[in-house]
Amino acid sequence: MTHPIDLTALPRDFAWGVATSAYQIEGAVAEDGRSPSIWDTFSHTPGTIDNGDTGDVACDHYHRWPEDLALMKELGVTSYRFSLAWPRIVPGGDGAVNRRGLDFYSRLVDALLDAGITPNATLYHWDLPQTLQDRGGWPARETAEHFAAYAAVVADALGDRVRQWATLNEPLCSAWIGHLEGRMAPGVSDITAAVRASYHLLLGHGLATQAVRAAAPGAEIGIVNNLSTVEPATGSDADLAAARRMDGHTNRWWLDPVHGRGFPADLRETYGVDLPERPGDLATIAQPLDWLGLNYYFPMTIADDPDGPPPFARQVPRPDAPRTGMDWEIDAGGLESLIMRLTTEYGARRILVTENGSAYPDTVGPTGVADPERTRYLEDHLAACARAARRGAPLAGYYVWSLLDNFEWAYGYDKRFGLVHVDYATQRRTVKSSGRRYAEVIRDHRHALAPKDAPTGAKGDLAAGAAARAQHDAQPADASVV
Ligand code: IFM
Repeated sequence: MTHPIDLTALPRDFAWGVATSAYQIEGAVAEDGRSPSIWDTFSHTPGTIDNGDTGDVACDHYHRWPEDLALMKELGVTSYRFSLAWPRIVPGGDGAVNRRGLDFYSRLVDALLDAGITPNATLYHWDLPQTLQDRGGWPARETAEHFAAYAAVVADALGDRVRQWATLNEPLCSAWIGHLEGRMAPGVSDITAAVRASYHLLLGHGLATQAVRAAAPGAEIGIVNNLSTVEPATGSDADLAAARRMDGHTNRWWLDPVHGRGFPADLRETYGVDLPERPGDLATIAQPLDWLGLNYYFPMTIADDPDGPPPFARQVPRPDAPRTGMDWEIDAGGLESLIMRLTTEYGARRILVTENGSAYPDTVGPTGVADPERTRYLEDHLAACARAARRGAPLAGYYVWSLLDNFEWAYGYDKRFGLVHVDYATQRRTVKSSGRRYAEVIRDHRHALAPKDAPTGAKGDLAAGAAARAQHDAQPADASVV
């Protein structure tokens, strides 16, 4: 059963996309000169990943990408968001460039363009070359500088064909989950390392933005953050303050600096760690952006947790909330709120929902893969996008996470997010019913568009966004004082 969605508020050139990342799908970890990344090391460390899974083979996309491209064509997507593996391109982390690594992505980009699918390339989706981890990883400033050098190499090689670039995917996960909670590579639990990593990730974002623009004039550059709505569990002062801290930890810490507002003072106090700042850094971090990427999965309800790790706040489950197979609560309204927040509070010029999706334990039956829960999740979140566009948000695209079932990090292969089912024993791909529904939505949007396709926004929302943009644009060139 499908549910009608009114998508007429979405612009004619709306990007209908699917997203993946290198380590989660490529496999071929020791081929054509690729060096190990921190995720190779982490996944091969006993006890880190469910079932002892690794990304060694994953979806074997490195060899099967033509088949995966054919699937994208079958779905009718107009854009593909993928990431480039730094350890394939600069295996030493810095220095020598591996032509064979670049060639792989060059062939992919050519084929995408031939198919009429716009590439949207992410420079870093968590697979830091292990050799740089051995030299200090993201807590070290040099990693940000090496990242910019790698970005320049990639933009120089592909910038004649790739226009849309994202610097980082979800730096929150690299910093907080990788260096504070220790549940992701590199598996560290240390607030000082985490805060330093967060700083250098954002510095790397700014330096890479400059490097890509220098190598590929006309590039359109964004950053991709995973954001959540945050509500207090109760009206108590303690929970209200905890929710404010969690909002800072999850949202403001990542958005404020790139918008020229510096790192939030309240969170700096909560972490109690000196930032490794140097004059000029904040201006570097706050490079003007062409678009903002929003990854949205779940809302958060937060209670005070004085004995927990920073930010001393914990998520409280809402007992009646519907959940995905990740046990993540479902609230499509949260996506609308976050799109509006980026529009009004941060003055975003262009927003892409760069990831949104759900995992369920799908199986292949005699008539294919029936996944009604994912289909409903997709419809509800697309309806939320349409509502935000109707309210005037500059929403320019939506990417389903993910094209394929793939290596879901610490959860291994059991959590399936794909529109396309992957049988890992045979590498057979089967389009799920949600994939067919997505294809139908894309077709319907094309057909439904009236000539007057510009969304009409609520004036108040737009005025607030314009004010936020003006405030950012008025920042002094070197806003290094926080
Ligand atoms: O699989 C991940 C992806 O790598 C980053 N965003 C969230 C997805 C689902 O957990």
